[in-house]
Amino acid sequence: MIEKEFIFNYPLAAELIKNGKVSWQSPSNIALVKYWGKTEPQIPKNTSISFTLSNCFTTTSLIYIPKKAPSKTVDFKVIFEGKENEAFKPKIKSFFERIAVYVPFIQNYEFEIHTQNSFPHSSGIASSASGMSALALCLMSIEKNLNPETSETYFLKKASFLSRLGSGSACRSVEGPLVVWGKHPNIYGSNDQYGIKYPADLHPVFETFQDCILLVDRGVKQVSSTVGHGLMTDHPFAEARFKQAQDHIVKMIEVLKKGDLDTFVEIVEKEALSLHAMMMSSDPYFMLMKPNTLKIIEKIWNFRKKSKTHICFTLDAGANVHILYPDKDKELVNNFIINDLIGLCDNNQYIYDEAGLGASPL
Ligand code: PMV
Repeated sequence: MIEKEFIFNYPLAAELIKNGKVSWQSPSNIALVKYWGKTEPQIPKNTSISFTLSNCFTTTSLIYIPKKAPSKTVDFKVIFEGKENEAFKPKIKSFFERIAVYVPFIQNYEFEIHTQNSFPHSSGIASSASGMSALALCLMSIEKNLNPETSETYFLKKASFLSRLGSGSACRSVEGPLVVWGKHPNIYGSNDQYGIKYPADLHPVFETFQDCILLVDRGVKQVSSTVGHGLMTDHPFAEARFKQAQDHIVKMIEVLKKGDLDTFVEIVEKEALSLHAMMMSSDPYFMLMKPNTLKIIEKIWNFRKKSKTHICFTLDAGANVHILYPDKDKELVNNFIINDLIGLCDNNQYIYDEAGLGASPL
């Protein structure tokens, strides 16, 4: 059992339980082959692979103060962008409950979680990947203070493992520029418990890949990703979808090795549309794309034909469009975005981002 390796069982000397503060910055990520469908506890039904981003990140400081007497509860306050926030508490509470077996020392402290995002609040950009991974990394810094023998490799592995228990895709935010999560026979070391840095040959074009995020709709999603994953359980196309993702990974390995951008574009767009096709054929069905999502996609297709660039789109569980393109096409694509696409965004909002190397301590 891989999980056993993550249970903290270092003797906890009383003098080590003192107060302190740890801080991490952790980025968001964008999947190329998507994770949609899981079993308990956050075990993915298929392998996924993502670019770790750079500019969209969460910064979290965790202040920890020893409790007067240890108890089974985890006591904490959340301060989001400088203000106490009650709305985030239930998700963090269940995260703490879920991970207590692996980091039992959390029951010795009261916590203050100070957190903020680099991207605008309610922009439709999910902050669960960056937020949960930043918090998991802070907990690992406490673990390392308690057990200085913790190795760098174990630290990152367990941070990803804990992140996954907070939000599945969060386990892909710890390292970069490409991370794989979910067991695949063709990727050495891949597993369902934590994300690993893509271990095979990677063409340099993918180290500097660009991602411009077009903020199409800032509204609250009508269906959460938790509900969406759940609807894959009895989905009539589920097995075919999981097989499609596994097959896409096989093709993607060759693409990433050779820098084959034509096939890259094809797989990435097929993945985005398959994800949304699953939503549109769930019971009950739902749709997260908006009219402007489709308008943007059509414009991207026309521009790609005309410009002969390797621009493509992908989508998360929402209406926003991620435009992916190689660094060398930056100027041409950025002009296209400004001239033709910004007008289709909510309040003309967009964010330039690019592949990044993962989280960093502050
Ligand atoms: O990590 P969750 O449970 O929010 O699921 C994320 C799912 C997608 O963003 C739609 C796809 C992915 O692989 O990131």
